[in-house]
Amino acid sequence: MGGDITQSPEWAALDKHHGELAGKHLRELFAEDPGRAERMTLTAGDLYLDYAKHRATDETIDLLVQLAERAGLRDRIGAMFRGEHINVSEDRAVLHAALRMNRDAKLEVDGQDVIADVHAVLDKMSAFADRVRSRDWTGATGKPITTVVNIGIGGSDLGPAMAYEALRDYADAGITARFVSNIDPADITGNLAGLDPASTLVVVSSKTFTTLETLTNAKVARQWLVGALGEDAVSQHFVAVSTNAEKVADFGIDTANMFGFWDWVGGRYSYDGAIGLSLMIAIGPERFREMLAGFHTMDQHFRTAPFKANMPVLLGLLGVWYNDFFDAATRAVLPYSQRLHRFPAYLQQLTMESNGKSVRADGTPVTTDTGEIFWGEPGTNGQHAFYQLLHQGTRLVPADFIGFAEPYEDREGMHDLLTANLFAQTSALAFGKTAAEIAGEGTAAEIVPHKVMPGNRPSSTILATKLTPSTLGQLVALYEHMTFVEGTIWGIDSFDQWGVELGKKMALDLAPALTSEEPPGDFPDSSTERLVRRYRELRGR
Ligand code: F6P
Repeated sequence: MGGDITQSPEWAALDKHHGELAGKHLRELFAEDPGRAERMTLTAGDLYLDYAKHRATDETIDLLVQLAERAGLRDRIGAMFRGEHINVSEDRAVLHAALRMNRDAKLEVDGQDVIADVHAVLDKMSAFADRVRSRDWTGATGKPITTVVNIGIGGSDLGPAMAYEALRDYADAGITARFVSNIDPADITGNLAGLDPASTLVVVSSKTFTTLETLTNAKVARQWLVGALGEDAVSQHFVAVSTNAEKVADFGIDTANMFGFWDWVGGRYSYDGAIGLSLMIAIGPERFREMLAGFHTMDQHFRTAPFKANMPVLLGLLGVWYNDFFDAATRAVLPYSQRLHRFPAYLQQLTMESNGKSVRADGTPVTTDTGEIFWGEPGTNGQHAFYQLLHQGTRLVPADFIGFAEPYEDREGMHDLLTANLFAQTSALAFGKTAAEIAGEGTAAEIVPHKVMPGNRPSSTILATKLTPSTLGQLVALYEHMTFVEGTIWGIDSFDQWGVELGKKMALDLAPALTSEEPPGDFPDSSTERLVRRYRELRGR
């Protein structure tokens, strides 16, 4: 790593190649190369990727792979899995992959047996989850736990919340989970509404155990519980997931009921460890371990497959291709699965907190765009909302379509219709409809331009048999590693998140100006001052 990748001969070769390819339509690429649909596919674990509908040829892939080699991707993958401190700005190892390594694996980092630590926590989580599920662990009044409320934010919320929604069918012990994250009181109020404190378990999830939102929500939940059951009930109803035992104890949670992790697990990479406790209680340790096995399958693929046949590498390189050579700022993620409705939100943190950086790992400014903007909604809802822009707008929005062959339920052939929509959309995006075709259907001449579908809009299709714990793990690991591939090409540290710190501090500094009886004092700027004054007026202060 190091240096400016955009000055490399590999970058220049891609730039030239882009000049040659940019004017070509996917219709031409398919016509010139009848074998591409068969060739441009890839299987990793249970995931099948079709990347034929990309504005890329074999030469593009070759050149992108050469770029990956120039960026030292192979060494970087090795360094990550060996536990080197590749998170340079925080001087930390990056070892989320260790969270799903087998018990007999060997990995020592900074003199510590990481695998033993990981499995000790997994075993502790499993034992606890089993107790709750079997009703051996009850609330203070002896009632079984029927609801787990996870309080956390960012990586301490999005992962378990997304996965719980995805795997709800596996929640088989009569225990449901709820997720509270926002400092907006509506969140905790809505989520505690209707719950019986006597059968509620609160999991306070925070890596640092200093996060304002989480600690405030946890305090509210504690008051709610103590109000109903008294102070002594807290130990039966509150557990913690954190790296910070001291702060957990300060909050009043018994550290015997704390599930730990380590600074080498980034928040957004943590739900397959202890941050997944609420999920594990709902779906059970066995299913959770199936999910971990899925993650591990993708880890092994990423670690060993040649770049050209490596799914996270290909997806990452294609991301760079569109982001930096086609100037596509965003990527849509379109799961054709209602169960994955939180997946785009989860991916937003994973990818954008990781790669939204303007300086390289060595502190020098980047010289190309980084950090694709991820967004999306499940199909088919998105089709009736924003797909118009995808099809006929002026912007290029590459898209990842995700689908499954087997439904959990099928009514009136709905699942086949869902999948037909997925396939139809990728085809319409890629090939569109010409003016001649539209005119040939008898459309009035003045209407023809409105109906032209330009096509040439690229997409990946990821298909799996069924959304199981294992396939979910594979899917998440795919995007984790894809994010790392992009970050490696851009030469950035994908594992810190300094950009969120300033806003947090300023909110704390500003809070007294909103609430104090004294007229407010210092403000960061005049616009903010006016807003605060207006807010105070509106609140009668
Ligand atoms: O938003 C910044 C962030 O630090 C995320 O990276 C993290 O996932 C989230 O806050 C929550 O942090 P914690 O788990 O320490 O409460």
